[in-house]
Amino acid sequence: MERPYNFSAGPAAIPPEVLQQAAAEMLDWHGSGMSVMEMSHRGKEFISIYEQAEASLRELLAVPANFRILFMQGGGLGENAIVPMNLSRAAAVDIVITGSWSQKSRKEAAKYCSQVNTVVSNEADGHTSLPDPAGWQLGIGSSYVHVCTNETIHGVEFHSLPDLKALGSDAPLVIDFSSHVASRPVDWSRVGLAFGGAQKNLGPAGLTLVIVREDLLGHALPICPSAFDYKIVADNQSMYNTPPTWGIYIAGLTFQWLLRQGGVAEMERRNIEKAQLLYGYIDSSQFYVNKVAANCRSRMNVPFFLRDESRNEAFLAGARERGLLQLKGHKSVGGMRASIYNAMPLAGVQALVGYMREFEQKHT
Ligand SMILES: Cc1ncc(COP(=O)(O)O)c(C=O)c1O
Repeated sequence: MERPYNFSAGPAAIPPEVLQQAAAEMLDWHGSGMSVMEMSHRGKEFISIYEQAEASLRELLAVPANFRILFMQGGGLGENAIVPMNLSRAAAVDIVITGSWSQKSRKEAAKYCSQVNTVVSNEADGHTSLPDPAGWQLGIGSSYVHVCTNETIHGVEFHSLPDLKALGSDAPLVIDFSSHVASRPVDWSRVGLAFGGAQKNLGPAGLTLVIVREDLLGHALPICPSAFDYKIVADNQSMYNTPPTWGIYIAGLTFQWLLRQGGVAEMERRNIEKAQLLYGYIDSSQFYVNKVAANCRSRMNVPFFLRDESRNEAFLAGARERGLLQLKGHKSVGGMRASIYNAMPLAGVQALVGYMREFEQKHT
């Protein structure tokens, strides 16, 4: 069956091979007589699924031995509270504002911290630039520095992680990598904690990934729920409470699929190729526009606008007819957004650009 190309920002497309494998194993996982959804998380079958998922992810993202991988629940927004409850010591924290998601993180952190310093903000230019880290004013003694490394709505991405040590800070860097996890390698030497919901690049909604340096465990505030205390979760191999078993299983299949493709280095190569094709076409056109500065354009989420917005509905209807789904922009910014995560093949972006060109020619 020919499937349409799905440009959703999340929950997003999953590689067809992963869906096919899950379908084949749905009623009877490896002769167990059970679906993965029906297994006890304490049974040997699920433990083997969990261990394989964790090992594959460690290999895929080259996670160093002094980092723990936690499979949690609560999503990215849940982590906006869980991170300060675990890391802030109720003191001051620093936040870099680059778009809607970091703004949400700032608001939530303020509930748990004595102070939330805005290190720098790109709000004045409508979240279309990336303030150079060399000019950041980091707070003295802040418990951590929070950065959203890919702003899913505004399409702003960090193409290298800030080096806080070089900026004179010992604070751990916390990254929200929800919408570009596994699309490129991570420089763990610069990171204290990374979190992300699975529903964009890793699998179904319901699973939240946390990768945390061991020395950051064990500092949760007394008000932190036990199920969200990173140390308790780590000490119990993510099974203090029932983990999102189905999400872990599908993410595990996705990790193996990514490894078979050549890992994150190969994904990065493909993602650059796809992004160049799409941005290149938008920039060459008088009909469409992307407003993000060239040095921080997201390879995953490409917001774009028709210069004549009265044609938006016709554009979306024509796209749907051609099997190009879920291109409508986020309601807070309008326009269009093409999310071109790992599961989107180059052919999907070629089909999108082909349609955009056809639509432009028809209407100019
Ligand atoms: C960068 C980023 N952070 C956080 C979130 C919130 O994630 P969730 O809906 O899983 O809480 C999203 C969701 O789109 C996101 O893109």
